[in-house]
Amino acid sequence: MASMIEVTSGSTSKYEKVKSSEIRGCHELRKSAHGGALPLSGPALQQLQSHRSIHEAAYGEAEELTHIAKAFAEAGKEQAVLSTVRLLIEHWQTRTLCHATEEEEGFYKEVAMEYPEYADKIFFLTRDHNVMRQLVEEVEKLLVTQGSVHAMLDRFQMLLWLVERHSRDEEKWLLDVAPNDHAKRR
Ligand SMILES: [Fe+2]
Ligand SMILES: [Fe+2]
Repeated sequence: MASMIEVTSGSTSKYEKVKSSEIRGCHELRKSAHGGALPLSGPALQQLQSHRSIHEAAYGEAEELTHIAKAFAEAGKEQAVLSTVRLLIEHWQTRTLCHATEEEEGFYKEVAMEYPEYADKIFFLTRDHNVMRQLVEEVEKLLVTQGSVHAMLDRFQMLLWLVERHSRDEEKWLLDVAPNDHAKRR
């Protein structure tokens, strides 16, 4: 796995060159990190299978990186843990948080216009996004202040727990409920 090699090398990787504070917007973030090739927006969000595959791919990568970070922590390799934490922050920003922003700016608005009765569901889903953003920001602060590695890893574990439930709710509430209606918008 390419990311594994970059993490274990211990040297400055292409990921460490990406500083979120210097980059505006998800498009630029994704382009810097992944060559801009990820299908995170547009009609893919309205189709259950493609939307679910976006969730699954992002979750699988985050889960694997979290396990790697924990293994480094258990082995007492602090620099390797910190490199993996930087990679995880960038991963959450460029994948799940960008996906969340695109949902709020497009997909959720479309659903809310067509189905005003879904307003409470969209409110809860947006609240999940905001908690995810908060957790990632907390890890960034911990990194800057040289805080506890275990506190960072705890937050990544919370993110996995939250995004797993969030994705299932989103698929059930906004994509499974009225598949025929959503299919019309393809
Ligand atoms: Fe979402
Ligand atoms: Fe989603």
